[in-house]
Amino acid sequence: MLLSAPLSQVIRNQANKPGMRSFYIYDTTVMRTKIRRLKALMPKNVEIFYAMKANPHIAFLNAAREENVQGIEIASLGEANKALEAGFTPERLIYTGPGKSPEELHWSLTKGVRTIHIESLTEAYRLNTFCQEQKAHQDILIRVNPNFHIHGAQANFSGDSNKLGIDETKLYEFLPRILALDHLNFRGLHVYAASGVLKVDDLLKNCELVFAMARTIEQKSNKLRCDIIDFGGGFGIDYLESGNDFSPDAYATGLQELIRKFNFGDRQFVLELGRYLTADSGWYCTEILDIKDSLGKKQVICAGGSNHFRRPVALNINHPIAIVAMNRPKVFDGQERVFNEKVFFGGPLCNTADKLAPKDVYVESAEIGDVAILGLAGAYGLTMSHIEFLSHARPPEIIIS
Ligand SMILES: Cc1ncc(COP(=O)(O)O)c(C=O)c1O
Repeated sequence: MLLSAPLSQVIRNQANKPGMRSFYIYDTTVMRTKIRRLKALMPKNVEIFYAMKANPHIAFLNAAREENVQGIEIASLGEANKALEAGFTPERLIYTGPGKSPEELHWSLTKGVRTIHIESLTEAYRLNTFCQEQKAHQDILIRVNPNFHIHGAQANFSGDSNKLGIDETKLYEFLPRILALDHLNFRGLHVYAASGVLKVDDLLKNCELVFAMARTIEQKSNKLRCDIIDFGGGFGIDYLESGNDFSPDAYATGLQELIRKFNFGDRQFVLELGRYLTADSGWYCTEILDIKDSLGKKQVICAGGSNHFRRPVALNINHPIAIVAMNRPKVFDGQERVFNEKVFFGGPLCNTADKLAPKDVYVESAEIGDVAILGLAGAYGLTMSHIEFLSHARPPEIIIS
């Protein structure tokens, strides 16, 4: 990973502050540029929502609001509150995720959340009961666990026994029961089958299969219409720096073609993007506290590990790593250093699962006191980490723009 000279300087300046051993750097201009580009590219009936689980920091919520995303995809009451604090109104929130509590459903109904995405019969019945009590109606989408897998995804959420959504195999049995709940307004489908997809054609295949599903549903009853089709997220990020970036241009063109083929020009489509919008807006930076040789391999031990940045080990994927040299005084003569070799990178936690890179990393040069930088850390970074473990301090999140 190449770091620009200004970014290296920002990192050096931060690392030189007393006690500043681990921190995140965020640059929201990357996200802003991506939102603008997507809005220009996508067919006019495609709405872009920010899936704030990728990074709930207020700076990203503000950037999303200022760039006029349609709204925020929330998955908890906590996320809802943060989105409201950032200035989003409830009508700009869509609520997905399994296991919505009665309180969360009740809150969403009374506040006027735009759509609640039903993931089970229980949720449908519970919500309908609240609606009856409130003499209200609620727009819903039904989230489906489709019968297919998406090729080449980092994580597949479909095709197997799954807690997300209602199995496609049960949909035609459950649908009449949900439709009979007369306080729920069926507005369409939500099918988010996979995350981290780099090949546009794989993700477009998902869209095509969902369109076919919508058509099958509509053919069963001429009173049924899927006005809204929500594809979830899934736009991939090239963590391995293979040069195969996801192409939003090709996706937009392909989606437009599918909309034409299915004659769905009068429908509304929703994208809930998280990773694609924020991954390359963030860097996790942590001081190298120690380097030692263990049975012939260097162990590079940083101030923060999976407690601050758990994603690499949780998903068994290396993020790009760079070293910013700090030229600190030596701790003792003859201390170990890294020079053109493959090394282990980990943090200060007392277990061997605490890795910043699950696979050993080739490093040209690193000294104790230098700063290790993990790139593409703006999505699912701090928010997905177990920061309480060993009670180390929470890393500051520094916004540079
Ligand atoms: C329901 C839902 N929508 C959107 C997203 C965001 O997905 P991505 O980060 O792949 O864009 C997620 C991520 O888990 C999700 O669960």
